[in-house]
Amino acid sequence: MILLVCGSPRPQGQTSQALRLLEARFQQSGHLTQRVCVGTFDLPIYGLGNGGAAGVRAWRQAVDSASALAIGSPEYHGSFSAGLKNLLDHLDSALVAGKPAALVAASGSPRGGMATLAAMRHVLRSLHVPAIVEQLAVCPQDRDASSGRWSNELLMQADCVAAGLLRQAGHA
Ligand SMILES: Cc1cc2nc3c(=O)[nH]c(=O)nc-3n(C[C@H](O)[C@H](O)[C@H](O)COP(=O)(O)O)c2cc1C
Repeated sequence: MILLVCGSPRPQGQTSQALRLLEARFQQSGHLTQRVCVGTFDLPIYGLGNGGAAGVRAWRQAVDSASALAIGSPEYHGSFSAGLKNLLDHLDSALVAGKPAALVAASGSPRGGMATLAAMRHVLRSLHVPAIVEQLAVCPQDRDASSGRWSNELLMQADCVAAGLLRQAGHA
């Protein structure tokens, strides 16, 4: 199973839609997928509060069941979302080490996204998660203003990212 993790709280936001592009490609290749987002498990901020044990267990179980990850985040003030960081803080390297990850960033400008991708890559390294070389950065300019269709260039990059993850996971 390939787990898609969305660091945005907006189900119809750019991050979620970009992850769906990857999900469609994984499914077309015959792979099972599961999609979760920052709101799925109602997690407490790590180390604070007593509640949320069932959510923490469910989140860790989802990660444990995955052979590979696709992790996306909106760019918030030059980095990835605190909600995604909290999800990651509830993991440890014993659970995720070696599971390859594809990274996706959504930003408000064509020059955005890169800092977010780099920050995710840096944090995932501490969890011994190998982020693949191919990555996807999306912004509103990647879609046709009237039809909403993604540009061909963006769709080709999604192909590369999906193929890269399947290759790295040994599923290609
Ligand atoms: C709190 C906040 C901070 C943001 N900071 C940036 C930023 O630093 N750079 C940028 O390009 N866009 C920034 N944006 C725009 C978001 O990255 C953009 O709206 C993105 O589509 C949000 O992801 P979503 O659509 O998946 O929710 C910010 C948006 C919010 C709400």
